[in-house]
Order: sequence, then C-alpha cells, then structure tokens
Amino acid sequence: MNELANRVLADCQVIAGMTEEPSRITRRFLTTPVHAVHAYLRARMEALGMQVRVDALGNLRGRWQPAKATEKALLLGSHIDTVPDAGAYDGVLGVALALAWIELAQDLSVNFPMEVVAFSEEEGVRFSVPFLGSRAVAGSFDPALLERKDESGKTLASAIRSFGLAPELWPEAAIEPAKYMAFVEIHMEQGPVLEAEDLPLSAVSAIVGQGRLTLCFTGQANHAGTTPMALRHDALGAAAEWIVQVESLAQRTEALVATVGRILVDPNAGNVVPGSVTASLDLRHADDSVRGACLKTLLDSAAHAAALRKVQLQVEVQMDQPAVAMDSAWTARIVAAMEATGFPARTMTSGAGHDAMILAQALPTTMLFLRTPSGISHHPTETVRAQDVEAALAVGRAFLLGLHGEIQRQGSLDSRRLLA
Ligand code: HGY
Ligand code: MN
Ligand code: MN
Repeated sequence: MNELANRVLADCQVIAGMTEEPSRITRRFLTTPVHAVHAYLRARMEALGMQVRVDALGNLRGRWQPAKATEKALLLGSHIDTVPDAGAYDGVLGVALALAWIELAQDLSVNFPMEVVAFSEEEGVRFSVPFLGSRAVAGSFDPALLERKDESGKTLASAIRSFGLAPELWPEAAIEPAKYMAFVEIHMEQGPVLEAEDLPLSAVSAIVGQGRLTLCFTGQANHAGTTPMALRHDALGAAAEWIVQVESLAQRTEALVATVGRILVDPNAGNVVPGSVTASLDLRHADDSVRGACLKTLLDSAAHAAALRKVQLQVEVQMDQPAVAMDSAWTARIVAAMEATGFPARTMTSGAGHDAMILAQALPTTMLFLRTPSGISHHPTETVRAQDVEAALAVGRAFLLGLHGEIQRQGSLDSRRLLA
C-alpha cells in the first residue's frame, strides 16, 4: 500500500483515540478531545506548509498558498465530530484525504490555492442541530443558535467560550465565495450500494433532504398497580403506537427512510405509568414534496395516538434541510478523474447528510464517496479498505491535474473565469 494511503489510515486511527469515552469513539462539538484533534491536525497542516487558524465556531482551517498562485482556492474538508459509539472514518477520513490531496497538489506543483476545513459540528449530537460549523463557513449561521442549550444546560456560546474561542466573532468564519472555485467533500458512502456493486468509489449527484424533529408526549405519571387502564394517560403508549406507524409508513413508501433513534421516558420506572416521552424523528427522501407529505401523515398520526389517551403533543422542528443537487460541472470533473484512473463513472445520491449540503449554498459543491465495507456506519465496526483509499488518491491526482490544466488552458492563470 502506498505511503500516502498509509498516512490517511494512520490519521484516522490516531484521531479515533481522541474520544470523550475511553471505551468507545464519541467526540461531540468542542468537547475536550477536540483540543487533541486540533493539535494533531494543526501539526499535520503546518508540516505541509499550511497557514492554520480556528474560527469562532471551532472549525480548524488550513490554507496552502503556492508560489505564483492563481486567485481562487479549492476548498476541501469534512467534519471531526462523531455520533456516540462511532466508527473511526465518518468525517475524519475526508479531512485526512483532503490533507493527502494537498500533498499530491504540492508534488504536482499545481498553482491554485487550497484550503482544508475540519468542521466542528456536523452530526448535531450535542445541541440537536447539525451543521453548525459549516453553516458558519457558508455564511448561513443563525446567531440565535448561540443560546441553544445542550443536555447539561450549557449554551452554545458558553461551550465555545469554554473551548477558548470568542462566539461573538462568528461572522468572521464566513468565506468570501468569490475567492473560491468550489468545495469538494470526500466521505465514505455509509451505506451498502458500492459494497453490493463491488465498486471502490462513486461521484455524488445529490444529497437527500432531511427533517429532524422532537415530539414530546405529555400524559400523567401514575401508580402502575392502582391506575385502571381506562383512566390512564400513558405517554409511552401514545409514543409506541406512533413509532410503529413511523416504521410502517416508511416501509410502504419507496425510498423514504424514517427513524426514531432516541427516546426519553419520564420518570422511566417500571412501576410508574409513563408521564412524558420525548422522541426524535429523522425523515429523509430525495424528493422534498414526498418527504413533506409523509411528515404531515406522521404528525397527524402522532396527534391521533396522543388524543386517544388524552395525552398532550408538542412538536419541535430542529432542521428542515431540502435535498441538495451537487454542481454538475464539478461532479463531471470528479467523474472524468475517475474514468482517467480506470474506475467506472458511477454516480449516486447520498442518503446521509453532509457539510457539502450547506456549502452548496455558497459555492459550487460536489463529493467523492468511498465504499463502506459491510455497509455499516455510525457504528464501531465502520471501516474502509486501504485499496479504496489508494483509489481516492489516484482520482485526486487526476482531478487536481485536470483542474490545473483547465486553468492553464484558460491562459490567464486566473481561475476567475473558471466556471464563473
Ligand atoms: O446523519 C447523517 O446523515 C450524517 O451522518 N450526519
Ligand atoms: Mn459524516
Ligand atoms: Mn455521520
């Protein structure tokens, strides 16, 4: 295996050891282990001659400025936060491969600037709102989020200050889109498609839309032994009836995925009728109108299940992220690089959300996927194949050379006109 691929995998393994929980990989937004990740990646970036800074949302950002550089930079990156009990590659692989692409660019003496961003919060675990880091970079951050609280009651602003940063400087995190050609995110597929087709890589044409909500069912806690069934207001009974309907609607709706991944029961005691239940809903589909119609169906069924038991229902929407098409010209560049290196020109839709869907609001954006062996992700057995990392490096080499050639052919050495 080539040395660069080795380094990418080593980066992922070293960073996997930087976790909130010694026995498993959990790294939420700006928690203590992120300091170690920043220190490690800063050293890697500075060794590549990159200028490094951390912005007010905790994104670690490195810039390589070649001699006689053209004007517009290529932006690369992915996230370094994780879900609880995560694998070692979701997000981090994209940052490690981006640094490897910088190394390739330097060997190829390309002359456009390149930046790598290690986004601070893509998963949305700590504050229940994803993409905080990339929203700040893309210029779509809502400062009202600074008052959002995590489970411990700490606000986002306070978490940023505790990390040693100044939340009031959040506007400075935004890029000036005119100074960039495009954003390219390299990421594992996190699903079974490439594994099933025995393909190492795929370009990405679009990212499905996703909604994330919290439903609160509030009934009446009571004695499990003395409260007749007809007199109960069982919050968990209502939620349970609804959760089965979530699953059955998704099973009968083509390409819809719906997940209730988190449920909190109060007081959560075996001999107490549940007084309240907080349940998450993650709803995704490539067509936003289908997703919207299904959401209405599910909220109506939640209201019905609650009303049957005289249980109150409150719904909070954490995110309603429309489906995002990748930039066709930049996706074509990735496909051309795949074909130039002998790989099939496979393109697919992403079922997982990515920072790319946020950056696409500010820049032409595309992605490159690597196969996920066994199709399992958001799990400690998540892995990547070394030869697929090598494939991503070979494609990166062809992509960077192709881009350099395009800029040269435009004569002015000025990427301003590139995909203006
Ligand atoms: O949940 C997602 O789609 C991504 O892995 N954060
Ligand atoms: Mn990810
Ligand atoms: Mn993820």
